[in-house]
Amino acid sequence: MTPMPAYKKLIAYPGPIVILGFGSIGQGTLPVLLRHFDIAPSQVTIIAADADGAEIAREYGVAHVIERLTRKNFEPVLDRYLAGGGFLLNVSVEVESLALIKYCGKRGALYIDTVTEPWPGRSEDPSLSPSRRSNYALREEVLAYARQKPNGPTAVITMGANPGLASAWVKQGLWNIALDRGMSMDKKPATREQWARLARRLGIKVIHVAERDTQTAARRKQWGEFLNTWSVNGFIGEGLQPAELGWGSHERHFPQDGARHGFGCDAAILLDRPGAATLVRSWTPLEGPYHGFLITHAESISIADYLTLRESTGELAYRPTVHYAYHPSDDTVLSLHEAAGNNWKPNESERVVGPDEIVDGADELGVLLMGNKKGAYWYGSRLTIDEARKLAPHNSATSLQVVAGILAGMVLAIREPTAGVVEPDQLDHEEVLKIAAPFLGEQVGVYGDWTPLKDRMTLFGADIDADPWQFKNFRVR
Ligand SMILES: NC(=O)c1ccc[n+]([C@@H]2O[C@H](COP(=O)([O-])OP(=O)(O)OC[C@H]3O[C@@H](n4cnc5c(N)ncnc54)[C@H](O)[C@@H]3O)[C@@H](O)[C@H]2O)c1
Repeated sequence: MTPMPAYKKLIAYPGPIVILGFGSIGQGTLPVLLRHFDIAPSQVTIIAADADGAEIAREYGVAHVIERLTRKNFEPVLDRYLAGGGFLLNVSVEVESLALIKYCGKRGALYIDTVTEPWPGRSEDPSLSPSRRSNYALREEVLAYARQKPNGPTAVITMGANPGLASAWVKQGLWNIALDRGMSMDKKPATREQWARLARRLGIKVIHVAERDTQTAARRKQWGEFLNTWSVNGFIGEGLQPAELGWGSHERHFPQDGARHGFGCDAAILLDRPGAATLVRSWTPLEGPYHGFLITHAESISIADYLTLRESTGELAYRPTVHYAYHPSDDTVLSLHEAAGNNWKPNESERVVGPDEIVDGADELGVLLMGNKKGAYWYGSRLTIDEARKLAPHNSATSLQVVAGILAGMVLAIREPTAGVVEPDQLDHEEVLKIAAPFLGEQVGVYGDWTPLKDRMTLFGADIDADPWQFKNFRVR
């Protein structure tokens, strides 16, 4: 474990800071922000739709305002604090990210979020096409705004652990493999195209964000209850969006239920089914092989887009397949199973198990780079609940990994305040990991000989391709 330097101030910030949303991530961020930024509690205001965590705000002497932001009221409410600029940290659910980014653009305020959220209802609106309900569409809408305001106040989008740190881990992982293979490299890649060329040179065909959360609470999931180690609403929202994946140039079998969007960057496709009902094979070093949910995530699209190479004609030359393979906590898996059986109707009750309730386990979260000769390479963070508790108050392993990404994104935004809209892939990955590392427990890279065809059961006919890295070999259902 990397020891955290005691109360090292990463940066000073003189303006007002609004933390929008104070659930598991907001509560984990506040103590770390106050401890590592040169700021006073009086600069910070929390706005949330409920009183959850109000006692933590009191503990730190920070104002906590209960106000549910809507399309109609969000500007006047935020104007109370940010009319003259400042920093908006959006860790809420169901407040549209793009509306907030535009607001910050108008007021000259810095902005960061960890996911691109729509207003409530969009992900579950049957009158909208699956493509309109996708993260791909949400990203394209934000990027369209970004193109109009290239030098606006910095808005770091989707900067948590994943999305967020995952993009930095991909670059670090690629570089580590290049060094381990003794490749002659003049210098570290510096541009998007140079990173994509390195990925192609290494033979990377598939990248998973491979996560196994083994945290358990003393009081296990009860019948009818949806339990998770972070936002239940956030997870159900993204779980019911279509499964989405960056679609690699090596893929030979377009999924029967797959579709292209027909607009935008074309780096990703969607499947005509929710991610929460789509299972894929993946691997992490501690867990070994497992089945994970192919939940749509911004990084599946942005990393695939970032690592795309095109011919001068515009034809696709190279892109890896990129997607999430999420094995949430065991009780979350049971919760999903119950919800699916109930046709995705909301469970009777929900519970986010926080650091006080979790008794055991770890979050093993990293990127799995596949296709290179040395084998599959996982690079990421292994953080136990005990380590997380020691490193920062009010944090589980899951929240602290996210907080580490937020902290890095905020520091870089303050350092470069007129960069416009920035995705994690565009940030300096070494700086990101330098800031985040002290909060991540063990950051390691591990090689394995795993492929989705390894030890496959042979009792039944299986439709497989001899090239292990075809998506159809990963897909379970
Ligand atoms: N990128 C990552 O690594 C990562 C990881 C975990 C969570 N997240 C994201 O972080 C966000 C927060 O997650 P969480 O676990 O803290 O969620 P949570 O459900 O625990 O808390 C959500 C907070 O948002 C507030 N909120 C909801 N609607 C609101 C409204 N209309 N106006 C004002 N506040 C409102 C709630 O009151 C609550 O305080 C989510 O969007 C989640 O998807 C990102």
